[in-house]
Amino acid sequence: MRLAFFGPPGAGKGTQAKRLAAHHDFTHVSTGDLFREAIHDQTALGEQVDGLLKAGQLVPDDVTNAVVAEKLEALGYERFVLDGFPRTVEQARWLLAHLAEHDAPLDAVISLRVPHEDLVGRLSRRRTDPETGSIYHLDFNPPPADVPAERLVHRPDDQPDAVRHRLGVYDDETAPVEAVLRAHVRFFEVDGTGPLDEVQERVGEAIAEDRGLSGI
Ligand code: AP5
Repeated sequence: MRLAFFGPPGAGKGTQAKRLAAHHDFTHVSTGDLFREAIHDQTALGEQVDGLLKAGQLVPDDVTNAVVAEKLEALGYERFVLDGFPRTVEQARWLLAHLAEHDAPLDAVISLRVPHEDLVGRLSRRRTDPETGSIYHLDFNPPPADVPAERLVHRPDDQPDAVRHRLGVYDDETAPVEAVLRAHVRFFEVDGTGPLDEVQERVGEAIAEDRGLSGI
């Protein structure tokens, strides 16, 4: 089973991909997390992408595709859920061709729909825990009391200017990816608003709706 989450910054891709991965023994492959790990570990890749992430700009396609190729190869092209990739038309075309070469096509794309006006509020109140990878929202999904507040990170690209820039990049570069994916992969639109558990249920229903996918 090979899945991808699609949607704008703050739609809940990471939140729902982590839940799906935990419940169904998938590996969650987030290009954003892979870049942030590289920055944290001060690798050559990290140095290359640090400024781009802080500014909310996309990492070049060839760099991103190479990172994904290495990760998917390590997973044997099985049981993964992509999050944040593909997000350009070039990346989408590359992914479809690369997976076809390995006889491992995507089974489904889940697109989380959330109005743009909700996204800024979600991102400005997001906190992440680098130790566990957990994603919180100070109001909608608060961290448990035993997680020390000083451990939580407010991502630099969640500052208002960077968020506005990321939403513009999404509209210009990523929204057109939808047509490419729709033409080649089963594409499910899921309402991403409301409580996290309800969104998770909708994601599960969308996947189960297709009998061919019910075996996850
Ligand atoms: P990345 O880390 O992929 O960020 P993103 O796509 O902008 O997505 P986010 O992580 O901001 O949001 P999300 O949809 O995962 O939402 P989340 O679950 O956290 O990319 C970061 C950067 O890396 C890019 O800007 C770029 O520089 C680079 N990059 C990454 N991939 C790349 C690529 N393919 N090509 C080139 N460059 C790339 O939820 C958000 C908040 O909302 C949280 O606080 C959460 O608790 C809350 N929330 C979730 N669900 C709900 C709900 N139902 N109700 C209320 N709040 C909710």
